[in-house]
Amino acid sequence: MAKIVVMAGDGIGPEIMAEGVKVLHAAAHKYGLSLDFTEALVGGAAYDATGHPLPPETLALAESTDAIYLGAVGGPKYDAIPDPNLRPERGALLPLRQKLELYANLRPCVLYPSLASACPLRSDLVEGGFDILVVRELTGGLYFGLPKAWEGDRAVDTCVYTKSEITRIARVGFEAAEKRGRRLLSVDKANVLETSRLWRETVTALASDYPNVELSHQLVDATAMDLVRRPQSFDTIVTENLFGDILSDEAAQLTGSLGMLPSASLGAKKTEYGTSGLYEPSHGSAPDIAGTGKANPLATILSGALLLRYSLGAEAAAAGIEAAVARILESGYRTSDILEDAPNFVHVNCRQMGDLIAGAVMNGADPRD
Ligand code: IPM
Ligand code: MG
Repeated sequence: MAKIVVMAGDGIGPEIMAEGVKVLHAAAHKYGLSLDFTEALVGGAAYDATGHPLPPETLALAESTDAIYLGAVGGPKYDAIPDPNLRPERGALLPLRQKLELYANLRPCVLYPSLASACPLRSDLVEGGFDILVVRELTGGLYFGLPKAWEGDRAVDTCVYTKSEITRIARVGFEAAEKRGRRLLSVDKANVLETSRLWRETVTALASDYPNVELSHQLVDATAMDLVRRPQSFDTIVTENLFGDILSDEAAQLTGSLGMLPSASLGAKKTEYGTSGLYEPSHGSAPDIAGTGKANPLATILSGALLLRYSLGAEAAAAGIEAAVARILESGYRTSDILEDAPNFVHVNCRQMGDLIAGAVMNGADPRD
């Protein structure tokens, strides 16, 4: 039985996670998977209950599970915690990534054709949709480099990358590109940063191992520009931690809403069925809309599909969920963030969207048949 630890977290976390788990139950039923769910406290919810955003029991569960399914952490209430290392982002999310060595963050940014009009770009730029995969390095760079300090009028963050860290994420990028459009764009700032010069040299040296993949390089500022100028020209992007953070939000917004973007964070640890990982929507805890039913659960639901694919090796079930999402969107159902003023759209809340997807998973054709 595959073990999944559910960490709902803060803000809209519990509402979106309820829908994500509902859809995983539906997929388990439809595709004959046996899933064992355990709940764990994380983020502000854990801080309130135990005084720490990542209590030892939660970390122990995280270390011994096949997959972690996480909602979102943080909120204004917790920004006031004096010690930044006890705030949900720095005290829970980043340590989980670092301690579990989840160095590869995959963020598929897909513009579903039925959401094309929700994309903020001119329609001729995105006709037919696009499909970009951002592979973001997640355990290095400015987020974790030491020293890191703030004293009086001076603060410092340090960007460090080693050749081995670059090599392992670059290989994830090449391998992902091989299975997609076979084009890998490595993004850096090699005209300014030493870490980027090492990055570019290291990625270039690996290219001969992947003769089917066409490798190119681009500076991050130019990539930011091209994402809004010609998003359809991208296939797979591999980049360092901070650049990936920024570019993936930019690409996400082009898909209509940050509420659509799932993510998988994978490490080296294997499970019986695949690779152990953490799956979470790329958006935050949106405290302003928590409890209103406005949250879009699709990023979470699609993260559940990635969980099935990467950690459980259940490709048919993953594809079944993704197809269900596409079908429900095509039928015109929309949460507030992707709703437009058009007669054929049906406005639904978070729970209704979860029910619709779960129903579509149950009723959908099994892609294996
Ligand atoms: C993300 C988020 C996090 C990050 C924050 C919440 C620390 O923006 O997952 O993209 O910067 O990695
Ligand atoms: Mg981010």
